Amino acid sequence: MELFSPEALITEEEISHRIQELGANITKDFEGQDLVVICVLKGAFIFCSDLIKKINLPLKLEFISLSSYGDGITSSGNVRLDMDITANLEGKNVLIVEDIVDTGLTIKTLMEMLEVRRPKEIRLASLLFKPSKLKHQVKIDYLGFEIEDKFVIGYGLDYAGRYRELPYIGILNAGN
Ligand code: IMP
Repeated sequence: MELFSPEALITEEEISHRIQELGANITKDFEGQDLVVICVLKGAFIFCSDLIKKINLPLKLEFISLSSYGDGITSSGNVRLDMDITANLEGKNVLIVEDIVDTGLTIKTLMEMLEVRRPKEIRLASLLFKPSKLKHQVKIDYLGFEIEDKFVIGYGLDYAGRYRELPYIGILNAGN
């Protein structure tokens, strides 16, 4: 299998600097409270692990797995819950950590799924946002970077299961 090193759209240094800022904002906003952080697998796993190290609050970490994309680059139009969290969310401050908001369908569906569990509050942290593709109303409380309408890979994001391990975010070009 060939090794592929796309040009970085967002470098490791830029990601790290932004995560430091997001962590500080989250810490300030929830001062004196604790937090349930929900990492949306698989794409957010690297972002989430770096982000929680910059949140200076008592927190519990949960994982949830949803699928909306198949192995291609266009959405299938529906969202399936593959693995649920184990924590009870009633009365809790919840922070969802997502890799990217594209059409917004995944996050809208997840928010609806979690709202019925009666948390105190749900906020969203997303590393990336593609505004040009948005179809559903989504409020991102903590956003890493807004990007143009390109399919991106690396730092947890995949194409057909590959490239998650890249330490930066690159653009997938036809022919890669
Ligand atoms: P949405 O439901 O359309 O907002 O899509 C969200 C999900 O699609 C993300 O959690 C990603 O898994 C996937 N996705 C959307 N755009 C990209 C991309 O550019 N690269 C990799 N995955 C993407």
